Amino acid sequence: MEIIIKQNADMASHASARVVARLVREKPNAVLGLATGSTPLMLYRELVRMHKEEGLDFSRVTTFNLDEYIGLKKEHPQSYYTFMWENLFSQINIKPENVHLPDGMAADVPASCAAYEQEILNAGGIDLQVLGIGSDGHIGFNEPTSSFASRTRIKTLTQQTVADNARFFDGDGSKVPHHCITMGIGTIMDAQMNLMLAFGAGKADAVSAMVEGPVSSMMPASILQHHPLAKVFIDEAAASALKLSNYYRWVYDGKPEWQRDA
Ligand code: PGA
Repeated sequence: MEIIIKQNADMASHASARVVARLVREKPNAVLGLATGSTPLMLYRELVRMHKEEGLDFSRVTTFNLDEYIGLKKEHPQSYYTFMWENLFSQINIKPENVHLPDGMAADVPASCAAYEQEILNAGGIDLQVLGIGSDGHIGFNEPTSSFASRTRIKTLTQQTVADNARFFDGDGSKVPHHCITMGIGTIMDAQMNLMLAFGAGKADAVSAMVEGPVSSMMPASILQHHPLAKVFIDEAAASALKLSNYYRWVYDGKPEWQRDA
């Protein structure tokens, strides 16, 4: 894992946007895996700015989102479909037919999950997957004890995740769907690059367990220790529990010019 510590979330988001933009410029038909939640908002804002001001072209880009709630219609204000269109897709030149999210209203959930995996394969696999981390260590909605071999499937949210996400549902946990469809950990690990973002003191323990703790399904994000290309962009607060933070800074500051992409 490469740990990139920036002074604040804005700077970390901008640095991560440069990695995404470089990929899209080098590979105009790149396949991006995308995430929702509060964390990637500044990344998406910066990509929109790059599109508008620098002509970053998404016309041939394909996207697959990590997850979706079961039981929310696309047009529900808290569906991840709505989130993605509001915060990114409506503001860039992506083709609607190139956008994919799991179908939270599927009549046959297992068949729809298998079809989602097949669509990712048909697109040539994910080049870059954006990830956030839950305070319980989840990636996508792969909650603790999720199999490292898992593929896209139905999951039940932990009570912690329901409580964390209640803020999007008028603070009312009873309105948060308890089930979701999520890419599996195996799906995420198949991406060529994983780009994790984590900000704020509330993520510090999860970040330190992910980076420096044992690899365990109790901390799903720790599997990224086994990924050949995982970049972790964090702010000072999220880095505050890392034992080797000075080493990560030293590594980053000493990178040769040709290796710098953020
Ligand atoms: P957050 O969620 O960005 O809203 O903190 C992250 C996650 O649950 O993966």
